Amino acid sequence: MTTTNSNVAGRALVVGGYGAVGSVVTRTLTEWFPGRVVPSGRDEARARRLGGVCVDVGDLAGFRQVLDELGDVSVVALCVEPEDAQLARICLERGIHLVDVGATHQLLEEVTSLHEPAAGAGATAVLSVGVAPGLTNLLARRVNDAVGGAERIDLTVLLGAGERHGTDAVRWTVAGLGKPATARARRVPLPGFGVRTAHPFPFSDQYTLRRTLGVPEVTTRLCLDSRPLTASLFALRRAGLLRGVHGARQQRLLTSLFSRVHLGGDGFAVRADAYRGERHATLSLTGKGQSRATGLVAAHVIRTLFTQNVPVGVHHLDQLTALADLPEQLAAHGITAAG
Ligand SMILES: NC(=O)c1ccc[n+]([C@@H]2O[C@H](COP(=O)([O-])OP(=O)(O)OC[C@H]3O[C@@H](n4cnc5c(N)ncnc54)[C@H](OP(=O)(O)O)[C@@H]3O)[C@@H](O)[C@H]2O)c1
Repeated sequence: MTTTNSNVAGRALVVGGYGAVGSVVTRTLTEWFPGRVVPSGRDEARARRLGGVCVDVGDLAGFRQVLDELGDVSVVALCVEPEDAQLARICLERGIHLVDVGATHQLLEEVTSLHEPAAGAGATAVLSVGVAPGLTNLLARRVNDAVGGAERIDLTVLLGAGERHGTDAVRWTVAGLGKPATARARRVPLPGFGVRTAHPFPFSDQYTLRRTLGVPEVTTRLCLDSRPLTASLFALRRAGLLRGVHGARQQRLLTSLFSRVHLGGDGFAVRADAYRGERHATLSLTGKGQSRATGLVAAHVIRTLFTQNVPVGVHHLDQLTALADLPEQLAAHGITAAG
């Protein structure tokens, strides 16, 4: 298998580098690799204050110019979701590695289709980076192995409604609430949170894992730490009242409303259950701050790209053996396994 050169030189451009996720990527990588991190976003003054540059993912000509001017970008960390895969294509065709924290299945599929051009240019894209997708993918892989190839995997994500989630993450969640449920809700014990009712939610992991692990049935469900808020939100969805939330104005209004609601704590938990006949395996992880955890996962992925051999082409987190022990590495940051 073709691999990237170890000890990749150059700098990491963190797009969305002062957002809830991106600021953790910027801070963590700067500690590990001083002088090799360039934060960016649309607010030029803010980016420059942090030693970064202005980037708008909707302005591809401007993005190319930024890459030309910086001259030595070897990794782009995408910590905001663009409209399509054009920006990913620009990076990969130039041989620049890509780390994408996005959670929209369609968009990740578009990036996956760039496998050949990426491999041809010697670039690696790592997708499904974060908590869900991300840690869920890694847990799914382990429980799948534990049962000897699952017939079904259930993933459960609990997010803290008291955390100050970033606007782009809230926008993504609001868009997900507008989509109809594709499976039944499930009662799931979660470490530190008791038994919770979790509802099917369109996280990308459940779609990509069917392919990467070859498991026919994978479902990801979501609940919030606040029981009343979870019950109300999903009752609204069941009643079809959130289905119309596709218009940009409605989405902006709801995003702004949800960004102000802080009804719980900042803990999160993820759990994976695999089933094969009578066999059942389960694993969970828990910690504080899903944005922080997502940023830490992304920073670890970039460190791996900077320092280790990783296959070229487009890969999801669960497909890279160099990152298989990430859950253990995260224990140092207070993200821990629970039985
Ligand atoms: N995989 C996971 O588990 C996981 C978990 C959490 C979040 N996420 C994803 O991570 C992404 C970021 O979430 P977040 O919570 O960090 O959101 P956030 O706090 O709103 O951060 C977004 C950042 O991107 C910048 N930005 C916004 N639009 C931009 C554009 N057009 N061009 C360039 N920069 C732009 C923002 O700054 P300006 O507005 O100044 O440009 C900000 O710095 C979201 O797509 C979310 O779905 C994934």
